[in-house]
Amino acid sequence: MIPPRLIFRKGLMKVLDQRLLPDRIVYLPVRDAAGTAKATRDMALRGAPLIGCAAAFGFALELRRLRPGSGPELARTAAKTADLLKAARPTAVALFYAADRMLGKALAFASAHPAAFSSADRNKLFEMLDREARLVTSEDEAACEAMGRFGARLLPKGCVIMTHCNAGALATMGIGTAVGVITAGHKAGKVARAYSCETRPYLQGARLTIWELMRESVPSELITDNMAAHIIKTCGVNAIVVGADRIASNGDTANKIGTYALAVLAKYHKIPFYVAAPVPTIDLKARDGDAIIIEERSTEEVTFIKGNRIAPRGVRVRHPAFDVTPAPLITGLITEKGVISPVTRANIAKTLSR
Ligand code: MRU
Repeated sequence: MIPPRLIFRKGLMKVLDQRLLPDRIVYLPVRDAAGTAKATRDMALRGAPLIGCAAAFGFALELRRLRPGSGPELARTAAKTADLLKAARPTAVALFYAADRMLGKALAFASAHPAAFSSADRNKLFEMLDREARLVTSEDEAACEAMGRFGARLLPKGCVIMTHCNAGALATMGIGTAVGVITAGHKAGKVARAYSCETRPYLQGARLTIWELMRESVPSELITDNMAAHIIKTCGVNAIVVGADRIASNGDTANKIGTYALAVLAKYHKIPFYVAAPVPTIDLKARDGDAIIIEERSTEEVTFIKGNRIAPRGVRVRHPAFDVTPAPLITGLITEKGVISPVTRANIAKTLSR
């Protein structure tokens, strides 16, 4: 079992600090939106769907601090809270989806209460926001289950599968997206072995994914990112599955840096390359991958490992945290509404309209 990622009670959220995994299981107390945004920025909380769920709870926590007032005051606080949460990280659209969904609820309440509202009304607002945050979470959980079911059906018996970064339970409130496909495939008796790429520079594959696979008893091996081509060629890898942070309306997919290289490798080796992601990951406002903002993270994540410098002082460094895989390289998008294949603008629109 993977420990709970978020524990939410009225007025307090406890966040599993993923920076300390796999060595220690420690929960950080978070009481407001600023604390949620900080835990997200600092990577205590990570993974696209999870930072969305946390943002929903962070929003509910922040509004619980609201003093008695009027609708317009509530609307201002709600908008500021959503902006604060959305500024934490730029690429994963789940964060924007959840913050905007909570904002929508608060604004609807504000416009229904243009004058001062009573403390009974305030309590109704708090309950309603807690409920909505729990709904965001339970929808994510259900989406993961469905993706696991659809994805497992795609895998051949005796499948040797590779994944990148961590799109597992630790990145969601359910069984995970890409890792959920692997564990569901394993339960169906189809997975012979899984490879987890270590995922430099932040090592989500080495610290988190392989830990999850081991805990779920999936036969699995950890490799460094530069071993991927050799392992695909020599170890019978016959599928790659990854998660996504944002999918443009034409299917171009932003995911952890290194994903694009794996998609190119899959094409060369004629093996399927799947992206597993819940529907809120699809950003219809992004026409294609060029519209997706790629987060640039601290260069120290590249030049240091566990506090030890590994590159010369003063070195020039780049650290794009994500890359964009063009839709034609993706065999199928595994969503909770089914598998979209081929990955085209028309097929995405058709699935979303169901
Ligand atoms: O920087 P991270 O660790 O938040 O990046 C996570 C990923 O890139 C995941 O693959 C993605 O968020 C999908 S998680 C289901």
